[in-house]
Amino acid sequence: MKNADILVLDFGSQYTQLIARRLREQGVYAELMPFNASIQAIKAKNPKGIVLSGGPASVYAKDAYFCDDEIFNLGLPILGICYGMQLLAHKNGAVVAPAGHKEYGKANLNIVKECDLLKGIPAQSVVWMSHSDKVNELPSGFEVLANSENSEFCVFGNEAKKMYALQFHPEVAHSEFGDAMLKNFAKICGCESTWNMGSFAKKEIAAIKEKVGKDKVLCAVSGGVDSSVVAALLAHAVPENLIVVFVDNGLLRTNEAKQVEEIFRLKLGINLISIDASELFLGRLAGVSDPEKKRKIIGETFIEVFDAEAKKHKNVKYLAQGTLYTDIIESSVAGASKTIKSHHNVGGLPEWMKFELIEPLREIFKDEVRKLGLELGLSRDVVFRHPFPGPGLAIRIMGEVNKPSLELLRKADVILRDELKSSGWYDKTWQAFCVLLNVNSVGVMGDNRTYENAVCIRVVDASDGMTASFSRLPYDLLENCSRRIINEVDGINRVVYDISSKPPATIEWE
Ligand code: XMP
Repeated sequence: MKNADILVLDFGSQYTQLIARRLREQGVYAELMPFNASIQAIKAKNPKGIVLSGGPASVYAKDAYFCDDEIFNLGLPILGICYGMQLLAHKNGAVVAPAGHKEYGKANLNIVKECDLLKGIPAQSVVWMSHSDKVNELPSGFEVLANSENSEFCVFGNEAKKMYALQFHPEVAHSEFGDAMLKNFAKICGCESTWNMGSFAKKEIAAIKEKVGKDKVLCAVSGGVDSSVVAALLAHAVPENLIVVFVDNGLLRTNEAKQVEEIFRLKLGINLISIDASELFLGRLAGVSDPEKKRKIIGETFIEVFDAEAKKHKNVKYLAQGTLYTDIIESSVAGASKTIKSHHNVGGLPEWMKFELIEPLREIFKDEVRKLGLELGLSRDVVFRHPFPGPGLAIRIMGEVNKPSLELLRKADVILRDELKSSGWYDKTWQAFCVLLNVNSVGVMGDNRTYENAVCIRVVDASDGMTASFSRLPYDLLENCSRRIINEVDGINRVVYDISSKPPATIEWE
């Protein structure tokens, strides 16, 4: 198992992943673990320090989230943030209660005592709060290090035990010196700033080599950056034991299968096994409209196809996937967050699956994967390809998926991508696609009434897919797309543009 310099226990805050990320940006390898990870699992990571994240719960609630108390006896530095602060106080005997009023947004931090955690930070600075509970007394052995207008104990700590607590979120950009505080904590833990994508790649390659040994790995690729990076890591680690498989599930875009084959055979020099399983997938999806059902069926069918392929080879023990941290958090297998959707490569896996998983990207984000891809020598057009979800066009067709709907969507989608590429907007956006709404509306073409399908254009800007905003495309470009789709695709007479952000919407429609 790989070591982590700092473990971040996830109590469900939407910012938890940012804590790990900010530490990694400073060259310290931080990894997330669910709040209820066993002490054995925590120790196995050999961490030099632990961060307790924020979270939506209250420590005095009946169903409060608690971690294993043993972590307080490991002799490791601990940093509690927001909920983590309350937990640290509660577990050390102090009283936590609802605050008189909730505190969201900016606050002024005043340092009242010099300490290692706040070294180099001005006496007064701006921090960002988001809490409704408050620590009303200090745990014994702890002292106040900073306060704010509404929080007497905004930062407190026990320097001898190297335990600290922050009422605010140092990981968000609005906390002026948050990065410096996290950097100080990493120093307190004795971490050096030696981590970077190159060292991550080396570590992962070594870990894969050790894990796989003489067995074989089946690596499922889609042509997207995640699975291409996983395949490249495996090709470095276990070239002789690698079977790379591409499954045409019938839910791909125009020419996609051919493009993927080209990327692997010509650009990466990896011999690809292509499997056409489109009839199997489409047969299973017939009559199914529920988004979660579609996702589960697709996830399960993928595994069946991989399983059948594995049986054709000897000693295939592992399945490698490009699962990212975003997929895990949204499928709610990490920590305390709620299920948003079952990402096909996480929540959609059947219980009978016999493969052991290799998921080298499960701790990192898409933009970090892209850096890793460049580090491994993948070309920019592979690395900067827009993400395409594993369940493919099935989650872009509202309601039942069938061949006529797929054909309509493919034709519209090709036009959108063509227009974005020729106008230079493809590279300026995170993702661009069409959604077939399966809603008919009335139109007029020539002198005739039409009653046809509507298509939605979805184009978003994002940096890691956790949040997104709709792209401010020029009206002329939108008009070209709309005109061409309506004129060139028989069966579509209306085009709309999605102007929702994530949250509260998601990027995909299902
Ligand atoms: P959402 O719709 O959750 O999407 O805002 C965030 C990013 O994840 C992609 N996505 C998926 N990728 N399997 C994947 O490999 C999935 O099941 C899946 N669902 C969504 C989505 O395209 C966007 O980039």
